[in-house]
Amino acid sequence: MNAFERYQDEFNWLYMELYNDREKLAELTTALHALRKMRKPALKALDRARKPDWYKRSDLFGITMYTDLFAENLQGLKAKIPYLKELGIGYLHLMPLLKMPEKYNDGGYAVEDFLQVDPRFGDNQDLEDLCGSLRGAGISLCLDFVMNHTASSHAWAQKAKAGDYKYMGYYHIFRDWYLPGEYEKTLPQVFPTTAPGNFTYVEEMRSHVMTTFYPYQWDLNYANPNVFNDMLITMLKLCNMGVEVLRLDAVPYIWKELYTSCRNLPKVHTILRLMRIALDCVAPACIFKGEVVMPPHELAAYFGTEEKPECHVLYNVSSMVNMWSALASRDTRLLKNNLDILNQMPPHCYFVNYLRCHDDIGWGLDEGCQRCLGIDPLRHKQFLYHFFQGNWEYSYARGALYNYDPVSLDARSCGTLASLCGLESARFPEEVDAAIQRILFMHALMICIKGMPMLNSGDEIAQLNDWSYEQDEAKRDDSRYLHRSKFRHDKLALLAEPGSPEARVYHGIRSLEKQHSSHPCFHKDAQVYCAYTSNDQVLSYVREFEGRRLVCLYNFYYEPRGCYIAHIKGKFTDLFSGREVQMEDGLMLRPNEYLWLDGEMA
Ligand code: GLC
Repeated sequence: MNAFERYQDEFNWLYMELYNDREKLAELTTALHALRKMRKPALKALDRARKPDWYKRSDLFGITMYTDLFAENLQGLKAKIPYLKELGIGYLHLMPLLKMPEKYNDGGYAVEDFLQVDPRFGDNQDLEDLCGSLRGAGISLCLDFVMNHTASSHAWAQKAKAGDYKYMGYYHIFRDWYLPGEYEKTLPQVFPTTAPGNFTYVEEMRSHVMTTFYPYQWDLNYANPNVFNDMLITMLKLCNMGVEVLRLDAVPYIWKELYTSCRNLPKVHTILRLMRIALDCVAPACIFKGEVVMPPHELAAYFGTEEKPECHVLYNVSSMVNMWSALASRDTRLLKNNLDILNQMPPHCYFVNYLRCHDDIGWGLDEGCQRCLGIDPLRHKQFLYHFFQGNWEYSYARGALYNYDPVSLDARSCGTLASLCGLESARFPEEVDAAIQRILFMHALMICIKGMPMLNSGDEIAQLNDWSYEQDEAKRDDSRYLHRSKFRHDKLALLAEPGSPEARVYHGIRSLEKQHSSHPCFHKDAQVYCAYTSNDQVLSYVREFEGRRLVCLYNFYYEPRGCYIAHIKGKFTDLFSGREVQMEDGLMLRPNEYLWLDGEMA
């Protein structure tokens, strides 16, 4: 039985439940079969060769970058594949590169044409060539599938503006303010400062359009089967060009209902499940990475169930935020609680772990847990964004606020990893040392968590903030550009100079990656848990597999701290320094020291 036959019943049933339109279902089914047929032999060979959980390999490292900031264009990027190989990369996420408006484009997240490469980066042939070369080098390409909205200059939006009834139905368009006003009663805001409200008045149509993000990003109406069919077919065409991972941008937002938050609604999952079935039928080598910036209890639903899966992987946003929070507060309790929750999720849940990406750090911590620990959520958030702005008594960080909301007092933080860890502010050699230690400490933590580790381009050479965005009128209001700067290829020469911060960070990260690739405890089926360390400033993350045990320890405090784990006994050896410890004796860790202690399970 092939995949089409296997899933036909479920697909039809879900589609009819959602749209009740047999004609559209038949059209889509025909298109899906055609797309499978059109898939090139090299990609079909990949479909056959790949095991379903190929992305859980422990030697798979990701990196995320902008094509133009790293290499000007797609051809230039192809020439830099050896650098990626040297860095151990097997998964490359290129930030949006499809046709976008010249100036105001939200970093490419306002798409004008989903099937055309933006001329700034090259053309479709360059993209296909790059995919082929990457595949040859064992690197999977990930591209965004910006499914919640199109640019207001997309052909569909243009037709809608011109009064084409069919395309007006592709968006949420309202003649008067009555319904938008009702929606606003329960809709939260994504960009309260840079783009307040969820609707934009469009003069040409004399109507209001739903725009959850920027006013030039029009939300698509997935209640219309034409939208679903067109978007799904488009997505699969990208897979047939050689894209192997689709980052489903802002997926929780795709379904809207009046008097709800228009986030995480049940129909989002019906759509995701339909998309997953189509992917498994047409391009089974490909996977979905969901961008779900939600608390852990909302996340689990986006994996679906083992029998009816949705996303293959999700961003581990909650651990990312908790790691930064723990670094600033020198307190591991919230982070430990977060990791405990994730470690209890079913085995098919798999995350992409990361410290920084192109976006801000939004301080969405678990408020219930904070209250239980006596932490005031708002005050803690204020502490965090002030700390990472460099505006706190003992802060070493340099960063910027993002979307400060004077009403809710909410704000998020921007900045490169190295600047947030203190390298930009460091004036004396010991401050440089402390900053580098923090950078490696954070990587050692991120890399040991269950899932696929992903770097942010530039972090491997400790790149600092680029404040020049403040001079650019199209960027100045969006502080995310602080950490979106040109990759400093000129700094690569410093990698051969052992004492340079670049070399210390680069080689430090490489040695973490090497351990991750080769140590048996990083096997996808390893048991993972946080053990009790007798100390809130020291976190342990224990990995166990086939009789081997790896105890990863992290001292978040600025002074030495002790650690004692009652149930772990015997002799262990740190994988980096060779230091030997007898676990039952307890041990001391220096400020921000990390140890990966290797031993046998007693
Ligand atoms: C995602 C992207 C972000 C963008 C938004 C709107 O959250 O990561 O950069 O602004 O979607 O598309």
